[in-house]
Amino acid sequence: DSITVFAPATVANVACGFDIFGFAVDNPGDQITLTASPEPGVRIIDIIGDEGRLPREANRNTASIAIQTYLQHINRTDVGVDVVLRKKMPLGSGLGSSAASAVAGVFAINELLNRPLTVRQLIPFAMEGERIACGSAHADNVGPSLLGGFCVIRSYQPLDVIRVNTPASLYCTLVHPDIEVNTKDARFILKNEVSLKNTITQMGNVAGLIAGLMTPDYDLISRSLVDVIIEPVRSILIPEFNEVKQAALENGALGCSISGSGPSMFALCRDPQTAERVGAAMQQAFLSVGISSESYVSEI
Ligand code: HSE
Repeated sequence: DSITVFAPATVANVACGFDIFGFAVDNPGDQITLTASPEPGVRIIDIIGDEGRLPREANRNTASIAIQTYLQHINRTDVGVDVVLRKKMPLGSGLGSSAASAVAGVFAINELLNRPLTVRQLIPFAMEGERIACGSAHADNVGPSLLGGFCVIRSYQPLDVIRVNTPASLYCTLVHPDIEVNTKDARFILKNEVSLKNTITQMGNVAGLIAGLMTPDYDLISRSLVDVIIEPVRSILIPEFNEVKQAALENGALGCSISGSGPSMFALCRDPQTAERVGAAMQQAFLSVGISSESYVSEI
């Protein structure tokens, strides 16, 4: 028995919603193949596309950890499975790379065992993969990678993940500059204290973005794609951040900010033509300081 599944990249935070907002894109993403084995335990047979950088030990790899935690939970440690992971997205990119691997793993094993759990019930196991990869079990990448669409993590304890409707025409431009930012580092530099003033501004934008997506109201989405807490700190890790953001806004993006912990940047756009133009302009801004990049356009 063997199964191959794909799990998509995700844009976490979505400007104002640090650790509580995320949405899935069409591409890039990760692919995993699981093959049942008579020998109990989870083994990584091969990882393709990571330039040898990801751990091959089953108890250190995000995909196998998610699978192991799941098997323990359902009392099936008798199960044996061989894992081949195809990384089809960059590491340390802010595109939810570790989440996609963990999600692909746990989704695939649940299918292979004829779905003992619902897709929603798989989220905590994929979060365990995140804990290993970046020191925090956040769900704003694994939630949307598993469920698709735009998700709100209303609460972590207990876990409460809500899917939010988005406008029929909404596109995301993702630009991944050829530099790396480690999520652990990007979390470490954040301040633990937030002023009341900034909290109020951020809460207004969080509420405004959800209302804008659900109404739908593009102007409200645009006004709400503002982050006064995380972006000012993390943007120093991204060369030309202000110029790239400016290029996106000048070319018609509704808003632009850091994707996850960076260095990728995302922009939301009303239509695919704008999304393509915005991507080209953002890439050009990175290129003006010699940084090459990849650009992806997805429908949300
Ligand atoms: N919400 C997380 C962060 C996403 O910004 O650190 C990391 O992928």
